[in-house]
Amino acid sequence: MELQAVERSYARWAPIYDRTFGAVTQVGRRRATALLSDLGGSVLEVGVGTGLALRHYDGRVAVTGVDYSAEMLDKARAKVAAEGLRNVAALHRMDARDLDFPDDSFDHVAAMHVISVVPEPEKVMSEIARVVRPGGSVVIVNHFARKAGALAWAERIAAPLADLLGWHSDFDRSRVLGEARLTLAEECTLPPLGMMTLLRLVKAR
Ligand SMILES: C[S@@+](CC[C@H](N)C(=O)[O-])C[C@H]1O[C@@H](n2cnc3c(N)ncnc32)[C@H](O)[C@@H]1O
Repeated sequence: MELQAVERSYARWAPIYDRTFGAVTQVGRRRATALLSDLGGSVLEVGVGTGLALRHYDGRVAVTGVDYSAEMLDKARAKVAAEGLRNVAALHRMDARDLDFPDDSFDHVAAMHVISVVPEPEKVMSEIARVVRPGGSVVIVNHFARKAGALAWAERIAAPLADLLGWHSDFDRSRVLGEARLTLAEECTLPPLGMMTLLRLVKAR
């Protein structure tokens, strides 16, 4: 998807996101935020969206969120204000392909339901690898293409609808594993039905 298509799609999603896609994908956010809270330190959440994960981080982390959609970010800012989320350090409008942070800025990075949405996911993975410190974790939650079966067929059928849906239904897992500075440390599939996968990658020291 081009960035303008992302922008248009998420301007449409923003008012209904929390009650639709957001509501059925909470398991991944809860797992990822629990993992990151245990690791502690500074966390960059790439593609923070409406901020659905923010309330689940505990006080051991300070979170910075970035997203390109102004409408999604407005929802995140409203949550931070309404819920008094003091461990949210900042929310910025930013393209994940060009993160405006120095190298090694964050202890850890999270990207939930984002990597199959962004244009040029390999470029985003490269930026993530640049801004996380050596030894830091990158936690990715996403749906990845299935190899076989009825759902794999449905994913291929839905693939041309990416601009309308707002994500690629047939996104290949190998596209997040090609970044040389990051090594896969953990992987698990998540309920319901193993639709989503959580990956933890670690940056070489
Ligand atoms: C499916 S939503 C996921 C939001 C949130 N992470 C969650 O779990 O609910 C995908 C988000 O990625 C954002 N996004 C897509 N491309 C982006 C880019 N190049 N830079 C920053 N954010 C981007 C969209 O604006 C949208 O908010």
